[in-house]
Amino acid sequence: MNNFEFKNPTKILFGKGQIAKIAQEIPANAKVLLLYGGGSIKKNGVYDQTKEALADFEVVEFGGIPPNPEYSVLMKALKVIKEEKIDFLLAVGGGSVIDGTKFLSAAAFYEGDTPWDLLTNNKPVTEGMPFGSVLTLPATGSEMNSGAVITNEEKKEKLAMGGPGLFPVFSVLDPEVVRTIPQRQLANGITDAFTHVLEQYMTYPVGALLQDRFAESVLQTLIEVAPAIQKDPSDYKAAANFMWSCTMALNGLIQKGVPTDWAVHAMGHELTALYGIDHARTLAIVVGSHYKYNFESKKAKLAQYAERVWNITTGTEEEKAQAGIEKTEAFFHSLGIQTTLSEYTENYKGTASIISERFTSRGWVGLGEHKKLTPSDVEKIIEMSY
Ligand code: NZQ
Ligand code: ZN
Repeated sequence: MNNFEFKNPTKILFGKGQIAKIAQEIPANAKVLLLYGGGSIKKNGVYDQTKEALADFEVVEFGGIPPNPEYSVLMKALKVIKEEKIDFLLAVGGGSVIDGTKFLSAAAFYEGDTPWDLLTNNKPVTEGMPFGSVLTLPATGSEMNSGAVITNEEKKEKLAMGGPGLFPVFSVLDPEVVRTIPQRQLANGITDAFTHVLEQYMTYPVGALLQDRFAESVLQTLIEVAPAIQKDPSDYKAAANFMWSCTMALNGLIQKGVPTDWAVHAMGHELTALYGIDHARTLAIVVGSHYKYNFESKKAKLAQYAERVWNITTGTEEEKAQAGIEKTEAFFHSLGIQTTLSEYTENYKGTASIISERFTSRGWVGLGEHKKLTPSDVEKIIEMSY
């Protein structure tokens, strides 16, 4: 659950025109598989820039990786990797394409019969085929971490994998790609990155003054740039700050030496698996209920967050903490993101027990920073999210 090894060796190429530099980062004579999604890169010039940069390499292409990268599609790409004797992977896209590529990196070296086992065996991946990325959607942080989340439509499952062998060798972060991102995805990106910080911050105080302020600064920057980026995604300064915030939210830095939660993500992934709700929106559905349900154990950090990030300076600790939850939901609403499950699906009744049963059957009995949340707690939190 995103709690992977974070000895980060990814080289970041940040800024305008950096796609042109990727040739220097790929081993000479490598046979490259260029992986992409539904075709946005062909409309915004990113595909052309990438092909131009790869002019001296032998390149095979694999397009059509869908949002919430689907196992059966990735298995077709794996066949291409083997048949074409590929030795370097290049993901050009958002979190889904990069995550799909991470799975392929691991699957290419996997010796078992069923690569889906990589998602269920809970073993960190220590070795994979080398890969780089050209990020087109700031959101997940996948471009600088070693985790991936893969969907299996047939099994209606969405599970995480990762390990020290799955860091990209390099990632290009050119903020100019932001200008073609649709409003829905911009809102998703801001919400996802914001929640990544919350998952590593909204726990209990451990005296990590610097880490707390790192986390708060990412939150404040996202709050500051959100209106500018939504008004005009071609605002380069806003796009650059948005992009860097998303990367820093989940590249390992802010989690050093502090407890982390990640229960919101664990519950959110189930809502995507069951109803296909966008990843970021599932987090917005769960986060408020999670904090209300765990109010006692999280109230000190909630109050600190309210004070430092939202400037709530009056009231008791409880009142500030409560205001922190309200401000968070109001922020998501301001982005156009709904925060209850019933706003996304009519068939929400029964969801809580389905998810709690899934957690029980997987043996997921100790979630959250105290490793104490049981499937029955999860059931109550999801019910509060209806
Ligand atoms: O597929 P294309 O045509 O490229 O269109 C995509 C897709 O439809 C479009 N898009 C991307 N860049 C664009 C663009 N459209 C126009 N202009 C651009 N520059 O956006 C749509 C969504 O893309 P996707 O990659 O699915 O979004 P996102 O980056 O939010 O990734 C979500 C996936 O990442 C996982 C999520 O669970 C979900 O499966 N996560 C991965 C994490 C990680 N590896 O660390 C952590 C996260 O918590 C998250 O779980
Ligand atoms: Zn996320």
